[in-house]
Amino acid sequence: MSNLLKELERIEKSGLADLKKVNDLKGFEKLRIEYLGRKSKLTEILRSIQSLPQKDRPAVGKRSNEVRTSLETGFTKTQSRIEQEFSLERAKDIDVTVPAARQHLGHIHPNTQMIWRIEDVFQLMGFEVFEPYDVDDDYHNFTSLNIPEGHPARDIWDTFWTEEGFMPITHTSSMQNRVLRKRKPPIRAVVIGHTFRNERTDPRHEHTLFQCEGIYVDKGITLSDMIGTLKTFFSKIFEKDVNVKVDPDYFPFVEPGNGMALSCTLCDQKGCRVCKYTGWLEILGCGMIHPYVLKEGGIDPDVYSGFAWGFGVDRLVMLRERIEDIRHFHSGDLRFIRQF
Ligand code: PHE
Repeated sequence: MSNLLKELERIEKSGLADLKKVNDLKGFEKLRIEYLGRKSKLTEILRSIQSLPQKDRPAVGKRSNEVRTSLETGFTKTQSRIEQEFSLERAKDIDVTVPAARQHLGHIHPNTQMIWRIEDVFQLMGFEVFEPYDVDDDYHNFTSLNIPEGHPARDIWDTFWTEEGFMPITHTSSMQNRVLRKRKPPIRAVVIGHTFRNERTDPRHEHTLFQCEGIYVDKGITLSDMIGTLKTFFSKIFEKDVNVKVDPDYFPFVEPGNGMALSCTLCDQKGCRVCKYTGWLEILGCGMIHPYVLKEGGIDPDVYSGFAWGFGVDRLVMLRERIEDIRHFHSGDLRFIRQF
């Protein structure tokens, strides 16, 4: 029996010593089979206990179990040591100063980029930003804007109608009445959102486009305030001094009604295809808000006056980025979007 106890002593010592030397999981696994496996010496001894003389069994049994526990503890510790060393070793290969691989995270649509610019510029000029309803009612899109039912001016806009008499808004002017009712003068507001036209599409016409509406109402507002405001705005957007030209035009909700043209931003008025060699780009509708519209919005036209405008956001992007076909915007063609 003393031989067996000595043997157990030896197994424990050599096992713990071998564990100190092992550095990889493969060697570790080999040792585990050698010391704790089914054919290991320790297992052999544990199995042989039954056949020992009765009086020797407790001492050998106790010692065998002690050795097994001690080895198992040693193996657990060694395994975590090896795993830790392994990950430290791996970490050495990682250069934390290398710039991250470029991730393709997508692009902000050029219309959205332009909307953000427009909002920034107008907010700096003291305007508040509103969003229109995509679908609105007849009153807001037409009647409150001095375009009663049956008025021929309704034909200016090719309107989609729902069976219930609602429409995807044909212009952001649909918010004029709400803004006038919600705020007290001085009112400075822009409305930016989708508008929809039941039109045939071509390089310059889309059924869905973005518009930017603006209204400014206070005491003593005149046409020259409108011209100054818009000239300042466009000069900021195009990052150069642009000239504006105001011509008469007709919209039922402004009097006088105007069209505004910008000095061609592409050729600086030398004449090019985009401005059809006129040097001018027709870009927006505007004018002094009609007294009917002010009254309908709860504002006394004898005390207050104001101007309003509406322009297409897509058109501005086309001019700034030299895009030749408005249909690219909704094409979903990634080759187009990736350029921005
Ligand atoms: N709502 C007009 C359009 O869509 C543009 C406009 C707005 C004209 C405000 C005058 C004043 O055509």
